[in-house]
Amino acid sequence: MAETLPSVRIAPSILSADFARLADEVATVLPAVPMLHVDVMDGHYVPNITIGPPVVKSLRAATDTLLDCHLMIADPRTYAPQFLELGAESVTFHPEVDDDPLSLVHELRERGGLVGVAIKPDHPLAMVEELLPHIDMLLVMTVEPGFGGQSFIAEAVTKAAEAVVWRDQHAAGFRIQVDGGISRDTIAQAVRAGADTFVAGSAIFGQTDRVAAARELEAIALQVRADGEAAT
Ligand code: DX5
Ligand code: ZN
Repeated sequence: MAETLPSVRIAPSILSADFARLADEVATVLPAVPMLHVDVMDGHYVPNITIGPPVVKSLRAATDTLLDCHLMIADPRTYAPQFLELGAESVTFHPEVDDDPLSLVHELRERGGLVGVAIKPDHPLAMVEELLPHIDMLLVMTVEPGFGGQSFIAEAVTKAAEAVVWRDQHAAGFRIQVDGGISRDTIAQAVRAGADTFVAGSAIFGQTDRVAAARELEAIALQVRADGEAAT
């Protein structure tokens, strides 16, 4: 285990919020979290269409919290810069859609963004290995991208553990985010695998008290981490 682990972060996915009342929905969870996860889908990379730059622009005006855009889109080279220009701090893209994802990582970082790359459940870590020294975050998907409310794919989270080993061996500094099916029943597996950032859509916005839901996830994560440290 690394000497200093990245802090635990709960990242509510607004995909499970009521889009007609988005600013109010976001306000119900912000007291408990350091960031929002914004799922952008284009109907090409995934069979669903969600939201795009105008919504991020409105969110930016409504909150100062960190906006982390998960771009499930076929053309991040064209569109990712727009999300940074509109004020998102972080963009994550799926690198297999681009011919030269390393140059896109560099371009986005030169624009001042935090940059992540995502791997689908059936993609090996090796697919993104050359990018790992250059990114701020690795997103390990624990559902097939496209929809909220799916079941956690436990086998996929082993890639977080592989990434921790790689990060230690190479003295790299990227965060490890898990996304998909995270709940009070599954978050412990992701913590044990070494993830530090936990996206949760339905497990937070599906609850009446979103602050309590987010705080419960954070408390479980911190407890599992503490138990792990005590055992080493
Ligand atoms: C799925 C999205 C996820 C989704 C998570 O493609 O990337 O961020 O919103 O939703 P839950 O937490 O409900 O699985
Ligand atoms: Zn997502």
